[in-house]
Amino acid sequence: MNTFSLNGREATFTPGQSILDAARENGVEIPTLCFLKQNAPTGACRVCLVEVAGARSLMASCSTPVTRGMEVLTESDRVHGARKLVVELLLSSGHHDCLVCEANGNCRLQDLAYRYGIRELKFSRSEEQYTVEDQNPFIVRDFSKCILCGRCVQACNEIVVNRAISLGYRGAKSKVVTGGDMPYHESECVMCGQCVQVCPVGALTEKKAAGLGRAWETEKIRTTCPYCGVGCQQLLHVRNGRITKVTGVEEAEPNHGRLCVKGRFGYDFIYSKERLTTPLIREGEGFREASWDEALDLVADRLKEIIAKHGPDSVAGVSCARSINEDSYQMQKLFRAVFKTNNIDHCART
Ligand code: SF4
Ligand code: SF4
Ligand code: SF4
Ligand code: FES
Repeated sequence: MNTFSLNGREATFTPGQSILDAARENGVEIPTLCFLKQNAPTGACRVCLVEVAGARSLMASCSTPVTRGMEVLTESDRVHGARKLVVELLLSSGHHDCLVCEANGNCRLQDLAYRYGIRELKFSRSEEQYTVEDQNPFIVRDFSKCILCGRCVQACNEIVVNRAISLGYRGAKSKVVTGGDMPYHESECVMCGQCVQVCPVGALTEKKAAGLGRAWETEKIRTTCPYCGVGCQQLLHVRNGRITKVTGVEEAEPNHGRLCVKGRFGYDFIYSKERLTTPLIREGEGFREASWDEALDLVADRLKEIIAKHGPDSVAGVSCARSINEDSYQMQKLFRAVFKTNNIDHCART
């Protein structure tokens, strides 16, 4: 039997499994900061420390495999003291002004400070090394809140495989950098925002969401991305009927939390004053508003007229990627089965 002792109780594990995963499977939660599910552990933050009988020092549970008969304590005084020190050091390493931070209520460092009863900074605060980067329309990078956990780097390189960022410089100057340490918008970054989604603190935040509502004030509504046929699963964060931001659903097919720039940041078209709300019929150089009945009758009559005169291949259709898949399916049925032409395409291909 593959068993070990977990807080004095017998627990099972699968060979090769980390202490963290085995503990979670046995219903014991160990806090983490840098660990990114389904990615190789980096062991960067040391918040997941546990006590292993016979080991000289505390071990990072995310990167230490369980062995048969191992005796593990996850909540001893020694473990608590070490985790508290790690959190104190991280809090002192930056400018953590929770009151006005966009991550307030959605920050693992804040949660841990609460959990370990940290009421004041034990160490003097490090000087800020880099100014906030907010020149692009989507993502704000506040380096003073970065705890250098490396989750964004893993997400960019291993999850979305854009390879736009890495950890650069050394010591107090350490920083997440793009190629040539350029701002995001001048780099290889494609603004997919995956790094923002995995950042456990307020170092990476959605620019358009700033000031629109705290995590606990927004309702999370699951939906399917309207942009293309992949069908990525999204959470709309909604406050007072207005979308404040969009995130990917971590545990759902087909995207497992990933979204592209359109799905994550392209939602504000629904609030555009230029959005068409009624059909328009061209008259001369301009357009006039019309009812749906009038517009549809006109389109049907003109299509029938053109097909009768010039044949089915004289018409073509481009279906809208923002409509639902069923509408696109019906559109191609209309062109292929009714009009008898294969002149049908879909704007997502552009
Ligand atoms: S990143 Fe977290 S701990 Fe730091 S200021 Fe923001 S909410 Fe507070
Ligand atoms: S937005 Fe996407 S491409 Fe850009 S750094 Fe973040 S994860 Fe990488
Ligand atoms: S930006 Fe966020 S995810 Fe990236 S290293 Fe800093 S704290 Fe971690
Ligand atoms: S979660 Fe294990 S070292 Fe960060």
